[in-house]
Amino acid sequence: MYKEVHKSLLNWYDKNGRHNLPWRLTNDPYKVYVSEIMLQQTQVKTVLERFYFPFLEAFPTMEDLARASLDDVLKKWEGLGYYTRARNIHNAAHQCGGILPDNVHDLMRLSGIGRSTAHAIAAFAYREALPILDANVKRILHRYFALEERNEKKLWEYSYTLFDPLHPFEYNQAMMDIGSSICLPKKPLCDICPFASTCQGKSTPLLYPSSKIKINKPIRIRNILVYQKNNTYALIQRQTRFLSGLWGFYESEELPNSPLKLLGKITQHYSHFTLQANVYLNEEETLPEKFEWFSLEEIAQLSLSRADHKIIMQIVQDQKKFHR
Ligand code: ADE
Repeated sequence: MYKEVHKSLLNWYDKNGRHNLPWRLTNDPYKVYVSEIMLQQTQVKTVLERFYFPFLEAFPTMEDLARASLDDVLKKWEGLGYYTRARNIHNAAHQCGGILPDNVHDLMRLSGIGRSTAHAIAAFAYREALPILDANVKRILHRYFALEERNEKKLWEYSYTLFDPLHPFEYNQAMMDIGSSICLPKKPLCDICPFASTCQGKSTPLLYPSSKIKINKPIRIRNILVYQKNNTYALIQRQTRFLSGLWGFYESEELPNSPLKLLGKITQHYSHFTLQANVYLNEEETLPEKFEWFSLEEIAQLSLSRADHKIIMQIVQDQKKFHR
């Protein structure tokens, strides 16, 4: 029934697909895996230009990753965000003893590998006949089958309905490309879509799926105290779930009584809240528990969040002013 649709899709992919993406030119499951994890929450351009190659250079195989320290892995992930991915990928390397499983069932037992990622690795590296169901594919399926309701279980069923089991690699890669260049969230380009003749949502694509109720992100207002002594600064390695493993400055809701100098303000948007912080220099010498002193050169070797990097920039700016 979908023979014509598959033909049209293959044809489209042949002419318009992004064939030169490096993770499409390899069947090394580890390289495919690294790309899939990086691409989960980050745009192709960023992964391609700044993260994919340096990461693979530092950790060329899953065994190298298993042998590496979490600090080294986080350092290579620095700036990519969503650091749980880096902790999971490191943990997964341990769980499988440095050898990525060759089947979906065992892949899905590893930290951070859900069904869609396992299918992506299997389809791209092992050419298995399995569909992917990431956010882009979900949007295409919602529109193609005119589905208003968001229902993961049903979407998996539909993903098999449209799937081309004879060309799992091309089908899945084409779906990614259509999701990012044609079936766009706000302005879908239906006229040039290879699904145009059979898509049930073509005349009203924006109705599918029905819109989510938007909840405004909460704003977290904090004070950040930069403890400073002889050009060294106090940092702690976070053990909290959020940003775990990254080093950061002292953060509190209340201000101490000691005299402070306002260094500046920072704003950082995270997926579930926005941080707005006043940053102060604090000359107080007794450190809170577990904090350690570092020079700026030493800090450059550590992994820090984007917010903490912004603070480092403010410290450097402040020093320049002082020495002028
Ligand atoms: N996003 C997730 N996987 C991808 C792939 N293989 N190519 C392009 N974008 C992707």
